[in-house]
Amino acid sequence: MPELNDKLCVVTGAASGIGRAICAAFVAEGARVILTDIDAVAGQAAADTIGCEFLELDVRREADWEALAEHAPQIDTMVNNAGVTGFEFSPGPHDPEHTSLADWRAVQAVNCDGTFLGCRYALRAMKARGEGSIINISSRSGLVGIPGAAAYAASKAAIRNHSKSVALYAAQQGWRIRCNSIHPAAILTPIWEPMLGDGPDREARMAALVADTPLKRFGTVEEVAALAVFLASSKSAYMTGTELTLDGGLLAGSAASPG
Ligand SMILES: NC(=O)c1ccc[n+]([C@@H]2O[C@H](COP(=O)([O-])OP(=O)(O)OC[C@H]3O[C@@H](n4cnc5c(N)ncnc54)[C@H](O)[C@@H]3O)[C@@H](O)[C@H]2O)c1
Repeated sequence: MPELNDKLCVVTGAASGIGRAICAAFVAEGARVILTDIDAVAGQAAADTIGCEFLELDVRREADWEALAEHAPQIDTMVNNAGVTGFEFSPGPHDPEHTSLADWRAVQAVNCDGTFLGCRYALRAMKARGEGSIINISSRSGLVGIPGAAAYAASKAAIRNHSKSVALYAAQQGWRIRCNSIHPAAILTPIWEPMLGDGPDREARMAALVADTPLKRFGTVEEVAALAVFLASSKSAYMTGTELTLDGGLLAGSAASPG
């Protein structure tokens, strides 16, 4: 029996990278999937390839969430995956001293507002049956400071904490609606492109990232998707308010650890 037989799952920011892989893994496990993204062309193409439904959804826009609620008033799994670092739309700087207020707010709008609205929609779309799984994609950057991407790190820390508020709130209502966060690091997707660039030092930048990782490689989108399948399935029924790192061992120690 597939893990997610006939469950209705919504995934945001799923036209590429991790979200797209989660949609494919969910479909492979028997789920009905609504793949959503702000990019209608890439989103529709991804959905056609995977064999699921596409809906255009900008996670910052409450009206888009209301349209989704009308379209899918009852769901089983919500993956709040859409996220931006800030480098997509601004070269920066993104450090705590020089980040512009506009850049800071633009990152929070997608990552924080988007996750807040996604959790709110999910609770409302799950409470009639009193069960479901909300999976928020945070980051390793939500667990440690990142001086060169301060708004991103703050937004991912907010997602981590909000996941726990959602988990406790749902439990207080007596619902079996669970909420957990996944904290990936160094998964090679398009989100890295503005930081890696296509210049002569691209390979060196990639090698430096891998050198810092105890397992000495990038993670794959399929590895993140496998964790999402587990959190969406009944096998994780006793897990809520928890944070799962998927980082090749990066956070197991620190640069200050004795050798
Ligand atoms: N790749 C990594 O190493 C890594 C590490 C930690 C966390 N993450 C997180 O994983 C999630 C997915 O990232 P990815 O690596 O697959 O990147 P990606 O750039 O491949 O995918 C991000 C997707 O989000 C969409 N998006 C952007 N703004 C949106 C909006 N306002 N509304 C809806 N969709 C929007 C983009 O169109 C894109 O399809 C993000 O939240 C990211 O922060 C990634």
